[in-house]
Amino acid sequence: MGIPQPAFYMFKCEQTAPPGMPKPSCVTPETQDLFQHLAQKLMKEGIMGTVQPIRTSCMNRCSSGPVMLVEPGHVMYAHLNKEKIDRIVEEHIIGGNVVEEYVIDKEQWDEPITPANMKKQMGM
Ligand code: FES
Repeated sequence: MGIPQPAFYMFKCEQTAPPGMPKPSCVTPETQDLFQHLAQKLMKEGIMGTVQPIRTSCMNRCSSGPVMLVEPGHVMYAHLNKEKIDRIVEEHIIGGNVVEEYVIDKEQWDEPITPANMKKQMGM
């Protein structure tokens, strides 16, 4: 038997807006320890490895930050804090049920466009 691949990837945006930038961002002094909190929660639950936390740069949903994308499933969670991360790990990752009340607005995260269709739209 080979090395099992992870069951889930959790992509936490770790972008900080440069000082003076008006744009909101996912990492502020108040939210800078969320990735560490996520990693600790996964370790505490004994599921680190089958769940892989990943730091990412901006995912273009800054105004809904702090955001985190869970794959598989394309589930984008918004306005995170430590309590929400705990619930996402317990109910979604372990329990198998998406925490709908923390999912980003559909307006901000609509169905994807396939790369083939995007090429067509671009006339390529
Ligand atoms: S800074 Fe996190 S989505 Fe842009």
